[in-house]
Parts: sequence; C-alpha cells; structure tokens
Amino acid sequence: MQTVQLGRSGIEASTLAMGSDVLGSKVDKATTFALLDLYFEHGGTLIDTANFYASWLPGCSGGESESVIGAWVQERGNRDQVLLSSKLAFDYPGSPGGLSAAQIEQECDKSLKRLRTDRLDVYYAHRDDFDTPQAVTMQAFDRLVKAGKVRVLGASNLALWRIAEANQIARTNGWTPYQVIQQRYTYVRPRHGADFGPQIFLSEELKVFAKHHSITLVAYSILLQGAYTRDDRPLPAQFAGVDSDQRISALRAVAAELAVSPNQVIIAWMRQSSPSILPIIAASKTDQLNENIDALALTLTDDQMHRLTVAGNPVIREAWLQPT
Ligand SMILES: NC(=O)c1ccc[n+]([C@@H]2O[C@H](COP(=O)([O-])OP(=O)(O)OC[C@H]3O[C@@H](n4cnc5c(N)ncnc54)[C@H](OP(=O)(O)O)[C@@H]3O)[C@@H](O)[C@H]2O)c1
Repeated sequence: MQTVQLGRSGIEASTLAMGSDVLGSKVDKATTFALLDLYFEHGGTLIDTANFYASWLPGCSGGESESVIGAWVQERGNRDQVLLSSKLAFDYPGSPGGLSAAQIEQECDKSLKRLRTDRLDVYYAHRDDFDTPQAVTMQAFDRLVKAGKVRVLGASNLALWRIAEANQIARTNGWTPYQVIQQRYTYVRPRHGADFGPQIFLSEELKVFAKHHSITLVAYSILLQGAYTRDDRPLPAQFAGVDSDQRISALRAVAAELAVSPNQVIIAWMRQSSPSILPIIAASKTDQLNENIDALALTLTDDQMHRLTVAGNPVIREAWLQPT
C-alpha cells in the first residue's frame, strides 16, 4: 500500500486506515484477527480506535476495541509495523468524558494499557469540550507528546474555527498542534440542516485549510454502512439532499464504466481528491474488506474525477476546484 505523511510529522501511514469501532464486540475475536491480518497483509498500517468503543452496545462498557487490537498486535508481534490511533472525550463507564487535563492524562494511560503499548501514534480529541479552555487541553496533550506517550495529535468532530484557535494557542506557547483532522465524509452530500449529533461533516472550507497547513484529512463513515450497494441499508435521511440523485447517478456511471463497485469508486475518489483524503475502511466480513482494499488498484481519469466532483452543483464546485 502507498503511504502518506501524517501532517508534517515525518510519520508515514498507509493510504487506507482500518476502522474498528465494533471489533472485539459485535465482531468476535477470531473474525477481528482475520480482518486485521487481511488489512496488514495488504500493507495497511493505520488502525483507528477510541477509548469508548463500543460502549453503546448491550453488554459492552468501552475498551473492547482497544483490547482486541492490543491482543492482536501482541500476538502478531508487529507493534513497530503498525500505527495505533485512539481518541478520547466521549463519556463511557469510568470516564466522564471531555478534554480536561486529568481526563487526557488518565484516558491516555488506560488506552495504552488496553492496547498493550507504550505510545499512541495518533491521539485525537474525539469531540469538543467547551467547558475546558483550549489552552488547558493543548498543554495537556503536549505533555503527553513530550513524555513520548503520543506522537501526533489529531482532532475529530471539532469545528474548523476551534481547530484553528487550538493550533494558534499551541503555536504561541510552543506546544504541539493538531496535525490530523478526522471528520465524517462520504460521496453524497448531506441535505441542508442535516443533524449528525456530535459528528461534524468534512467541509469544503476544511479542505482548503488542510491544504494550506499541511494537515492530513481522515474520513469516517465513508460507505454509509454499505448503503451505496445494499438493499438492506437505505441512504440515511440526512443525505436525502437536493443533489443526492445526481450524485448517485454520477457515481453509478463511473462505477459502470470501470466495472467496479460504487464503494470502490468512493474510496478512489477520496484518495485522488485534492487535498487527498485518507479513508477509514471498516468491515465485519473479509469479502467486504477485500472489496474495499481492492479499490487501491483503481485510478480514476481526470474526466471521471471531474464528473464525480462537480455532480449536482457544478457552479459552486468549480470555484473550489481552482488551485489555492
Ligand atoms: N471519529 C468519529 O467520530 C468516528 C465516528 C464513526 C466511525 N469512526 C471510525 O470509522 C470507522 C468506520 O465507520 P463506519 O462503520 O461508520 O464506516 P462505514 O464505511 O460507513 O460502514 C462500515 C460498514 O459498512 C458495511 N460495509 C463495509 N464495506 C462494505 C462493502 N464493501 N459492501 C457492503 N457493505 C460494506 C459493513 O456493515 P456490516 O458490518 O453491518 O455488514 C461495515 O461494517 C469506525 O470503525 C471507526 O473506527 C470514527
């Protein structure tokens, strides 16, 4: 698998990340190991988890995902060949959530223990915490970096203005800034006013910001749980927008031209976009994961990229296509 640098860190990650929110819980240990093996055998190195995965499932209390990943890394003896990224800020049993200094210190240690490692390659703020001053959060994160417990900082589900503010605070104080931003993203666009709860959809403005600041963009929920190809998964109501039909038509047309699945086109489109977006792929079955990984063999032509990108709203989209 090709690699991309995470921000300006000098750390190279594979161009597809592996999602894990229901690994070790809904997905049993044997299947989890098979999926992680498959990803790793194809050159995948960036594993995405979070402290509270998957506390929302019956019988789970959080930490299931980190624990099964930790067990897999230990059993395979491949810690130095993978990058482990985790997150904090959502509450779960034993943690009130948030980004206070105490939470950052305590939750990092808990994640390290569950992942059976001494360092997190990426540590994300998983959501915003308006009750804690950003200076407190950034200083606490910086302490982890200086202690060698964290290598790169990331922000997920933070508004762009908050990320810009946090990085300005970090710069002013000589602390470590956020270098990776992980937001929700897919090919169809949300309808106006769509509510994603605490999740934030990756904006066009963020792409320009990331390009200017050499920040790596990571995208989650890219396949809408399989809705692009599965009859049992309708397109979520948040995506019933004015241009959804046009976007789906453009996607299907390109997929048909290439005789590949729409899922694969989405993955290729994100990777080839400017700035390139690093997709998190996730699966509960090896055939799904194979399909998603095989998207790496795909190269969209300039014409296909253009048609996909402008579908639905060519006037506005053309403006964003200008080089910055
Ligand atoms: N930062 C955040 O706030 C945040 C939020 C959400 C997720 N994430 C991260 O992103 C990862 C992925 O999120 P997600 O699960 O929402 O992603 P997704 O891509 O929308 O959905 C993945 C699911 O789609 C189905 N699927 C995947 N590939 C398929 C294929 N080729 N054909 C048919 N169905 C397919 C599978 O569903 P079934 O297993 O049901 O068959 C799979 O579990 C998570 O594991 C987590 O690591 C981060």
